[in-house]
Amino acid sequence: ITRYSGLVEHYRARLPLTADTRAISLAEGRTPLIKLENLAREIGFEGELYVKFEGLNPTGSFKDRGMTVAVTQAVHEGARAIICASTGNTSAAAAAYAARAGITAFVLIPEGKIALGKLAQAVVHGAVVVQIRGNFDDGMRLVKEVAETSPVAIVNSINPFRLQGQKTAAFEIVEALGRAPDYHCIPVGNAGNISAHWIGYSEVSGFETAANVLTAELRGYDRSKLVDNRPKMVGYQAAGSAPFMRGGPVRDPETVATAIRIGDPQSWDLAWAVQKESGGWFDECADADILAVQRRLAELDGVFCEPASATSLCGAIRDIKAGRIAPGSTVVCTLTGNGLKDPDIIVKGGLQGVVEVPAERSAVEKALLARLG
Ligand code: F0G
Repeated sequence: ITRYSGLVEHYRARLPLTADTRAISLAEGRTPLIKLENLAREIGFEGELYVKFEGLNPTGSFKDRGMTVAVTQAVHEGARAIICASTGNTSAAAAAYAARAGITAFVLIPEGKIALGKLAQAVVHGAVVVQIRGNFDDGMRLVKEVAETSPVAIVNSINPFRLQGQKTAAFEIVEALGRAPDYHCIPVGNAGNISAHWIGYSEVSGFETAANVLTAELRGYDRSKLVDNRPKMVGYQAAGSAPFMRGGPVRDPETVATAIRIGDPQSWDLAWAVQKESGGWFDECADADILAVQRRLAELDGVFCEPASATSLCGAIRDIKAGRIAPGSTVVCTLTGNGLKDPDIIVKGGLQGVVEVPAERSAVEKALLARLG
């Protein structure tokens, strides 16, 4: 038996790292692909509906995939500090991997707009947390400015090593299904992850993305001989924070799904290329619908994801019902982060099922009978 020790070791040959680069890893990856039997039945879907539960990565989100590769490379290049702007998950991952590497993490977060669990993660791992009186887009701008003159490596998804790490989720899905799904539904904020998945699916099926089509020709790829089994990539945004639906930046993005509260996505061009190449689409979901799906998934199939993550499933369910996603197809929805990061959102929605009784046998039995009938 060989011990699984994370993405960098497992996929090193398919990552742009030299053979001698020391991996900074927390054994991330290998997340479960869970078939949603109950939810699929409820909506009358006869295809196969899966969630890739990225919330089971070491820091509770997909960011670990990108962070292990970005921090591995940054340390290899001699970096002693990393920096990012974040709606919470990137900062949690940056903090943890920096701790592991013995370097400093600086994280810029929008004041009062990140889930408490994520802030706690950045703090417990010893990051320097800078709360800015602005939103994620302000933070991103500031990070780029500061990194010009300070000795810090940016680990936001504008760092290409991030997307290289995140492409491995697509590898795992193809390994698990034996083929790519017909549709891949994913929440879109900065649009790095949708782009990374497309790179991954394209690599496993022998296709080159627009970004490296030139080198493909140099290496003698004959595109006409390839069978395109890549999925349609479907990106869902929160309605109050949906620049891909508005056709340009949104000034004051607002959504309960704070992880994707982003008005000016950094991977704008890449994501549009993904939409066109894959034949997929973008759409938006209302906050109330996102929260309802987050709860329904937890109640019916036992998976607790954070609100931003539920956006993918929320959109997928609607497009399945509308017939836009073909009946009988295989659909994978990425659940980007763990629900435990943001328990507040559930508490605010009301603690249904919580009953308070005296500490007496009869009172407890009465509570049971009230439910069992
Ligand atoms: N879902 C969650 C839970 C996220 O944290 C993010 C991004 C996304 C979806 C969107 O992914 O940006 O690649 O399109 N969170 C970043 C952060 C911005 O700072 O943690 P994307």
